[in-house]
Parts: sequence; structure tokens; C-alpha cells
Amino acid sequence: MASLIMILLFKLFTYMGDFRQAANSILLAKFIFAEEDDEVKLPPNDCDLFSGSWVFDNVTHPLYKEHECQFLSEQVTCIKNGRLDSLYQYWRWQPRDCSLPKFKARLLLEKLRNKRLMFVGDSLNRNQYDSMICMVQSVVLRGRKSWENSGSLSVFRIEDYNATVEFYWAPFLVQSNSDDPETHSIVDRIIMPESIEEHGKNWKDVDYLVFNTYIWWMNTFTIKVLGGSLDGGDAEYDEIERAIAYKRVLTTWSEWVDKNVNPNRTTVFFSSMSPLHINSTDWNNPNGIKCALETTPILKQSMYLNVGTDRRLFGIASNITQNMKVAVHFINITSLSEYRKDAHTSVYTTRQGKLLTPDQQAHPATFADCIHWCLPGLPDTWNELLYTLIIART
Ligand SMILES: *[C@@H]1O[C@H](CO)[C@@H](O)[C@H](O)[C@H]1NC(C)=O
Ligand SMILES: *[C@@H]1O[C@H](CO)[C@@H](O)[C@H](O)[C@H]1NC(C)=O
Ligand SMILES: *[C@@H]1O[C@H](CO)[C@@H](O)[C@H](O)[C@H]1NC(C)=O
Ligand SMILES: *[C@@H]1O[C@H](CO)[C@@H](O)[C@H](O)[C@H]1NC(C)=O
Ligand SMILES: *[C@@H]1O[C@H](CO)[C@@H](O)[C@H](O)[C@H]1NC(C)=O
Ligand SMILES: *[C@@H]1O[C@H](CO)[C@@H](O)[C@H](O)[C@H]1NC(C)=O
Repeated sequence: MASLIMILLFKLFTYMGDFRQAANSILLAKFIFAEEDDEVKLPPNDCDLFSGSWVFDNVTHPLYKEHECQFLSEQVTCIKNGRLDSLYQYWRWQPRDCSLPKFKARLLLEKLRNKRLMFVGDSLNRNQYDSMICMVQSVVLRGRKSWENSGSLSVFRIEDYNATVEFYWAPFLVQSNSDDPETHSIVDRIIMPESIEEHGKNWKDVDYLVFNTYIWWMNTFTIKVLGGSLDGGDAEYDEIERAIAYKRVLTTWSEWVDKNVNPNRTTVFFSSMSPLHINSTDWNNPNGIKCALETTPILKQSMYLNVGTDRRLFGIASNITQNMKVAVHFINITSLSEYRKDAHTSVYTTRQGKLLTPDQQAHPATFADCIHWCLPGLPDTWNELLYTLIIART
């Protein structure tokens, strides 16, 4: 079937003298053909996708090659930036009681036809957004996809499906003094826990919304909370304990969702905390330097593992999302990501927009980024989970 279409299109375009289109039609047919071969088997509805283990699988993973995705930013292209080991790309998440369906970009794009998928939150959600672009872009022909940044919103457009994958920067979800998408490295973070409208108006009527908020809360034990307006000169604020402020913010967010989201149109997801790997004694490696020397996941799951994730925030998010009028799918990535000490960008990344210098790379204790993740890599798994929820459970 696919080869027949290929021949017909090829003939048509060569007849019309459009050789570039003719070449494209070969590519197109190749994609259709490659994806026709096997069925996608959906996991049963009651299977817990988040409990399982990491399995080495260099046959099906990674889902794309680092050098084949032109849309990756320098922040995450670890191999290009000098990382020598690449095993971190070859792990597949295996749920205990079922299997994740094979990732098929066309199947996802069919779901996204005439629709918008938007990630909202901090740089970890942007990490996942970047991954999603790479996961779908390879089946879209050159010239039929575009990428545009304007202010807080970044939009990847896929013409043939009239679909977009988007990212909206709002690291606390509510308004804060860290909302500038470019200059947001503010030490003294101030939030307005009850103000969400300004951001929220950009999320209205989006078909798939994926929220997160975590890393910006972790610098200090308390957070400054503003009563009035952020640009009112002498800001007056209270210092509030992290978990209490987090609960206020997620309450504001959940009320916004319940009031503004039409569940007949929009599906809502909340991604749980993406963990850090800062102290290698947490996983019994006294000779480690943060995450910098790690090349394999933690495979001994019987080991008690605490990498410092603030579980209180996890509990709050899990509780609140379970008790809303609008059903929210909780994407429970925290524990499965805690095993992935090997998957961070470490010193193979950028700092304030610039690639680390060799001298900085030589000092991981100071410069290793053990927050963000290399791509291809762990965020691809988060997207496989999101994909599964989208194609099987919504
Ligand atoms: C999240 O997943 C972990 C296993 O990866 C499981 O132990 C935990 O109970 C889950 N939590 C929630 C709220 O689903
Ligand atoms: C996959 O890994 C196995 C075992 O390490 C190795 O023998 C094989 O060559 C690898 N295959 C690919 C395609 O990298
Ligand atoms: C294209 O997608 C947009 C955004 O989802 C939607 O509003 C519009 O109706 C779609 N156009 C067509 C022709 O379906
Ligand atoms: C959603 O759809 C159901 C069933 O078609 C309908 O009863 C309900 O009013 C709709 N809700 C909204 C908010 O449109
Ligand atoms: C790492 O954790 C160990 C054990 O909890 C602690 O003694 C040590 O001070 C920590 N190191 C750093 C750099 O925080
Ligand atoms: C979550 O809800 C349960 C039951 O309502 C409650 O016992 C627990 O304290 C809540 N946890 C958090 C972190 O809010």
C-alpha cells in the first residue's frame, strides 16, 4: 500500500517537474511503511505504569539520535558536548505488570490532529517539551514543521496535522518575579500564591495540558510571598514555609483548572517532581562527585533510596490532583527517575547560555548540573508515559 502511494506520488511530481516533492514523497512513503509493520498493544487500564524497573534495551532505545534532532538545544546534547559514555540512552522503563506500547509518532500525531499540546511549568517541563519535539519531528517532512519563541510561549508547529506542541514558562505556575523567560535567575524569589489569571489566560482551550512545578521551590526552606503587586515599588512580603506555600499555590491552580477547563475538550496532566542527584553518598558511592561519575542507573531497587526529594510536595500534589472536579492524570515520574543518577547533563551542558569551558568541565563538584537531563534520555520515558496515557486512557 505505502509503496503504491510512493510510486504514484513520485510519478505525479516528476511529471509536474517538482523533483523536490518527488523526493519527499519517497521519504513520506518510507515513514508510512516503516510504521505500518506492527500493531500497538495497549496496556490494560488498571495497570500501574509507574511501578516497574529499568531494563537495558539498545534495540528499541534511544527513540531518536542526538545528531538527528536539529531542535535540541546545546543545554542537553551531552555527547556533542563531550560526554564519552552513552549507555544512559539505552534504558527502557518496564512496568511490573504490563508493557508500554511501542512509541509511534504518527499515532500520537493523529491524536493531536487539529489540537494543541502544551507543557506549562519550569525547565524540567521544558526538558520534556524538547524531548517531545524530537520524538515526533522525525516523521514530519522538512519545511512542514516550524519552531517559534515569543515571550513565555514556545510553539512547535506540525503543518500536516495542524497540530502544535507548546511550552509555557511559569516556574511557580502562579505569578512570581521569576516569570521572565530569559532573565529569571533571581536569588530572592517572590511569589503571589493567589494570582494565576495572567498566566492562565494563555492555557485556555488548549486540548492537552501538562503542568509541573518543583525545582524553583528547592533553593530555600521558606519562600517569600507577596500580598500586593510585584511592581508596586517597596514590595512587602511574608516568609512562608515551603510546603505551606506550595499547597496554597496548587490550591490556586486546582481552582483555576476546575473553573476554566472544559473536561469535554481538555485533558489535564500533572507531572510529579523530577529528582536531583547531588550527594553520591545517597546511593552509597562515597567516591562519587555529585552525579558526575555515574554511568548506570541504580538497579538494586531493594536499596532504601533517598536523594532528597521533598516528599511533602509530592504528597500535596498527589492529594490535590486526586480531589478535583476535573479529572487530572498524575504522571508519577519521581521514583522511577530517582534511579537515574546516570542521566543528568552533569558538566556536558551550558551555564548562563554558554557551553562549559574545559576548565569548568574539569570541576564537576562546582559545575555539574545534576538537575536537568541529557537528550535523548530520561525525559523520553516521561513522554512514553504521557503518550500511553494519551493514546490509551483519554
Ligand atoms: C508513584 O510511583 C511509585 C513507584 O514508582 C510508587 O511507589 C508510588 O506509590 C506512586 N505514588 C503515587 C501517588 O502514585
Ligand atoms: C547492544 O548491547 C549488546 C550488549 O552490550 C552489544 O553486544 C550489542 O552490540 C549492542 N547493539 C547495538 C546495536 O548497539
Ligand atoms: C487547527 O488547529 C487549531 C488549534 O487547535 C484549531 O483551532 C483549528 O480549528 C484547526 N483548523 C482546522 C481547519 O481544523
Ligand atoms: C460535557 O459533555 C456531557 C455529555 O455530552 C454534557 O452533559 C456536559 O454538559 C458537557 N460539559 C460541558 C462543560 O460542556
Ligand atoms: C552527603 O550526605 C552525607 C550523609 O547524609 C553527609 O554526611 C554529607 O555531609 C553530605 N555531603 C554533602 C556535600 O552535602
Ligand atoms: C493527603 O490526604 C490524606 C487523606 O486525606 C491525608 O491523610 C494526608 O495527610 C494528605 N497528605 C498531604 C501531604 O497533604
